Amino acid sequence: MEDSFSVSINTDKLSGSAPLLSVLVVDDEEWTLRTLTHLLSGWNLQVLPAQNLADAFRHLKSGMPDLTIIDAYLGDEDGVAFTGELRRQFPQAGILVISKEDTDALARRAIEAGADHFLSKPVSKSDLRLNMDRLLELRRERAVLFGTNVRHELMNPLFPEILTQSESMGSVLRLVEKVAPRDMSVLVHGESGTGKELVARAIHKLSSRSRCNFVELNCAALPPNLVESELFGHEKGAFTGAIVSRAGKIEQAQGGTLFLDEVGDLPLEIQPKLLRALQEKRITRVGGQGSTECDFRLVCATNHDLVEEVRAGRFREDLFYRVAVFPIKLPPLRERMDDLELLFSHFLRQERTDKLVLSPDALQTMRDYAWPGNVRELRNFVQAVTLLVDSGQVERSNVEAYFGSRLEWGRTLTGESVVSLPLKREVRKLADIEQEEIMFALAENHGNVSDAAKALGMGRATLYKWLKRHDVGCEGTASE
Ligand SMILES: Nc1ncnc2c1ncn2[C@@H]1O[C@H](COP(=O)(O)OP(=O)(O)OP(=O)(O)O)[C@@H](O)[C@H]1O
Ligand SMILES: [Mg+2]
Repeated sequence: MEDSFSVSINTDKLSGSAPLLSVLVVDDEEWTLRTLTHLLSGWNLQVLPAQNLADAFRHLKSGMPDLTIIDAYLGDEDGVAFTGELRRQFPQAGILVISKEDTDALARRAIEAGADHFLSKPVSKSDLRLNMDRLLELRRERAVLFGTNVRHELMNPLFPEILTQSESMGSVLRLVEKVAPRDMSVLVHGESGTGKELVARAIHKLSSRSRCNFVELNCAALPPNLVESELFGHEKGAFTGAIVSRAGKIEQAQGGTLFLDEVGDLPLEIQPKLLRALQEKRITRVGGQGSTECDFRLVCATNHDLVEEVRAGRFREDLFYRVAVFPIKLPPLRERMDDLELLFSHFLRQERTDKLVLSPDALQTMRDYAWPGNVRELRNFVQAVTLLVDSGQVERSNVEAYFGSRLEWGRTLTGESVVSLPLKREVRKLADIEQEEIMFALAENHGNVSDAAKALGMGRATLYKWLKRHDVGCEGTASE
């Protein structure tokens, strides 16, 4: 049977909806089927639920599901045999077999039949997520291997706007996914045009604050004397021109996320005020008397070396530690050339000219270029070549004509002059890692100390001591 994957994607596109990845879930237990459907739909996957093989085959008629989850025992029916059948028909699919029976023999039988992974039931949310990510990765690799033109459609369902197939951006997105639900301040840093704003928006979208506002303030775009009233608001008559009272960005972000872009340009005199707002969770409008409570999560972006700004006395150290609780570095495009073709096609489609192809020479020239303006520059490049190229193929000469003298300029930028913040996450203090894991465990277990201790494999008393030592209060500590 032919691989009808591309057909199903096309149908999605025709109907005008974003192409979702599909998951066939086959389980005879209604409760499991419901839970899995609920979780997977929440991750923006299109779920095809089936309680028996007849239902499963019905779904298969409309094409290959990207991923499949199959219960090994479906009443009288054999899920493992079905796995073998599915694998023969769809070598590209990602298949996970699950079962209440947790034996090596069953796991081996499932893998031999063609499953990619085996999990015992009940399946925890985190295990499911991990396995879905792995299957997605496999699915993506197979699409490339089989030469089907689907990898452009494949996207991480959590981040539909951020296209990538590179390992380095993949790790960034995993970090984003981990930190988003936590309320900590995040500093997204990286060169211009690497996607910092996209990441900031994704953090908001994946957080519990997503129902409230995402409010942006570009600290570099305003004259310093206006930044304060933009941020904190003002009362009527506070200064010449203040004819009405106005809420500032912090108040507008109530319950939501405040995104301070180019935070390195925040005027020095405003910095202590922001620090106070973060510490006290209260602000006073310019010209105001009393203070108001404010509840917001701070996400900042910078393409400056913020550590250097601190050293130079342009950015307060105490604020730096508040802002950069969790730094995320976005890799420049030249360090993730895997994404070049993917993004090229993506921007072509935005220009509604996906007929254009790159000659091998043109692609090589693009790979040799340093892309100092990163993804934004690539987007501008695509817009330009669609005008430059008459035939259906982009030639090397077209690329060179566009780059012109910028080729040389770009190469020099690959040297040491490139901005990079020395906040490497590779080498970290053990105490920091410990703290992070403990905080994550608490978050995962809704602040319940006993459950978090269990997840961490440590005694409850030990965790209590740790929390006391680090002065961490959480919901469970008082009541338990
Ligand atoms: N991975 C990606 N997939 C799709 N589009 C992307 C990706 N990364 C960046 N872009 C696009 O590239 C452009 C630049 O991205 P963005 O504005 O987020 O970058 P930035 O790092 O905030 O840039 P700057 O430092 O100049 O503010 C935007 O049009 C964005 O949609
Ligand atoms: Mg930006």
